[in-house]
Amino acid sequence: MKFFSANIDSLRELYVNQLKSMLSAERQITDALPKMIDKSTDTQLRQAFQSHLQETEGHVQRLEQILSEAADDTDDIKCKVLDSMVDEAESMISDVHDDSVRDALLIAAGQRVEHFEMASYGTLRNWAQILGETGHAQMLEQTLNEEKHADQLLTQISDKVNPSAGTTGKVAAA
Ligand SMILES: [Fe+2]
Ligand SMILES: [Fe+2]
Repeated sequence: MKFFSANIDSLRELYVNQLKSMLSAERQITDALPKMIDKSTDTQLRQAFQSHLQETEGHVQRLEQILSEAADDTDDIKCKVLDSMVDEAESMISDVHDDSVRDALLIAAGQRVEHFEMASYGTLRNWAQILGETGHAQMLEQTLNEEKHADQLLTQISDKVNPSAGTTGKVAAA
């Protein structure tokens, strides 16, 4: 259900709207990552989430800076995609009792979020360039690169964690 309607008649208005949605997404990620760190058992995975939490705090600050220039306010618009992703991950985590399987789930949930962010920041950077906002485009590119790096790191960690998760349940099944 839509509680209010926004008039979006230009690319600039769409740009501001999506910046606000990403600000909401990043704020939700800032809340979710400490819980993901808490649930992780692999040391490298915990460190990866920890360092990305610091980067994510920077993503919030960059968006706040861009929005204060572009719209003169830093209110967000709730990102329902992130809300659903966090909700789904949290309910699944409580169903998993094996440590390495839970780590595999946390990596999967993390990578879904990174890919959503990569798609969103790629678009926002492109719109910033079209709108002549070169400084914004550079900041958005910096965030985009950090999202890509976080995703690559999770892939590396999954190379170790997933095979280990794959050995669980085999004894019981034999
Ligand atoms: Fe981010
Ligand atoms: Fe991220």
